[in-house]
Amino acid sequence: MKDLPLDVYDFKEIIEGGHLYIDKTDLLFELIRGKQRFLSRPRRFGKSLFLTTLAAIFRGQAELFAGLKIAQSGYEFKISGSPSGYVFGQLISR
Ligand SMILES: Nc1ncnc2c1ncn2[C@@H]1O[C@H](COP(=O)(O)OP(=O)(O)O)[C@@H](O)[C@H]1O
Ligand SMILES: [Mg+2]
Repeated sequence: MKDLPLDVYDFKEIIEGGHLYIDKTDLLFELIRGKQRFLSRPRRFGKSLFLTTLAAIFRGQAELFAGLKIAQSGYEFKISGSPSGYVFGQLISR
């Protein structure tokens, strides 16, 4: 059985650490194809993990998404831009 990822909001760390990840990559795929969105949710709802997952997609890190829904959607992983943002005031590196 996989560990629950307590206080882990970095997608790469969740996948490489073998933690449980509830696959929301189909929602990310929809988000990417859409327009700008404003995500507003209370704390601990997965906003930070959602953003680091999005950053991994835009970095073209296809290997992290093996077996997840976005990998089965036909999405072509490629480096698209330099994702950056802030999670708890910490810069998500470019
Ligand atoms: N899709 C998911 N699958 C597994 N664990 C998740 C998922 N989304 C969030 N979590 C876990 O829930 C906790 C809160 O997530 P976090 O991204 O820090 O929330 P927020 O930024 O909204 O406060 C973390 O321990 C994170 O690993
Ligand atoms: Mg957060």
